[in-house]
Amino acid sequence: MSPTQPPVDLRSDTVTRPTPAMRRAILEAEVGDDVFGDDPTVLALERRVAELAGKEAALYVPSGTMGNQLAVKCHTEPGDEVLLELESHIFLYEQGGLGANSGCLAHLVPGERGLITPAQVAAAVRDPADDHVARVRLLCVENTHNRQGGVIVPLERLQAVAAVARAHGVAVHLDGARLWNASVASGIPLRDWAATADSVMMCFSKGLGAPVGSILAGPADFVRRAHRVRKRWGGGMRQVGILAAACLHALDHHLERLAEDHRRAKTLAAGFAQAAGVRVVEPETNIVIVTLEHPALEPAAVLGALEARGVRMVSFGARRLRAITHLDVDDAGVARAVAGFGEVVHGLTGRG
Ligand SMILES: Cc1ncc(COP(=O)(O)O)c(C=O)c1O
Repeated sequence: MSPTQPPVDLRSDTVTRPTPAMRRAILEAEVGDDVFGDDPTVLALERRVAELAGKEAALYVPSGTMGNQLAVKCHTEPGDEVLLELESHIFLYEQGGLGANSGCLAHLVPGERGLITPAQVAAAVRDPADDHVARVRLLCVENTHNRQGGVIVPLERLQAVAAVARAHGVAVHLDGARLWNASVASGIPLRDWAATADSVMMCFSKGLGAPVGSILAGPADFVRRAHRVRKRWGGGMRQVGILAAACLHALDHHLERLAEDHRRAKTLAAGFAQAAGVRVVEPETNIVIVTLEHPALEPAAVLGALEARGVRMVSFGARRLRAITHLDVDDAGVARAVAGFGEVVHGLTGRG
């Protein structure tokens, strides 16, 4: 790496910087006080996403975590159980928020490739007439599934799971932080995925490359409740159209190009897989998971040696590393990452 070359940052698709065109859109945004409902750019974004997702309304929120937590809050009452797949973001990475913010219990079920099966949902629901037990009020599903390496949960499976949940009076929330990726990779419109759930959360600050923000879409009365709780939680923002403008720009210019990230993830995975002593699963979207099988490949040592070569990845559980492609990683970056990874693995194992 030449000293002036910035690192190839594959830690997450959240690391992107706004493009010059996005910065212009930010500069030119019309704004108002969004707490008063006066910001035309936020309103335009919310209308547009509600339409895209086929929902009555949508609410712009500062983060995906807030969108998910608002959904839990507005679908449940304290003491309710929320059905979650064992490795879901809402369970693993939101600091027990569903307990702290909503007084709910996590009812964890180990899924298949990130999704609970219809039979598991049926087995998990409680008899609502039994006053001894907590009610299962909400099922949360995640698509694409982060821990599973960005796998797309098939639409028919989501439909089947949601049908069983609904039949038992259990609401469904879709954590669609990367639903855009699932939609572009599968060619299935967002609204078809969103139709499987009562509410859906989607992030602009990941593959779409906006600096801040996510959106929660659902029925009008649900979004109205979420609007109220967002204010209580300190998420009422004022002239936030400057951020919403970046999100609108992203929808116009960065959605279809997610296919490039997916192509580059495949190239990256194929390149990594050439190194001896590692296992790499073919990615379905933009997340590449590498398992370090050779005993000489200690995750911290691998990450440190990669960093020294200008390649950034993260540890992702025991002997696993994660790399994510995004707007700021081009073909040359992928080539550098593959070359750097090969050198590091060769250097530590003396093989391949
Ligand atoms: C599946 C999933 N849901 C929710 C989130 C939370 O998003 P945020 O970091 O904006 O809070 C993430 C972030 O990585 C995610 O991967």
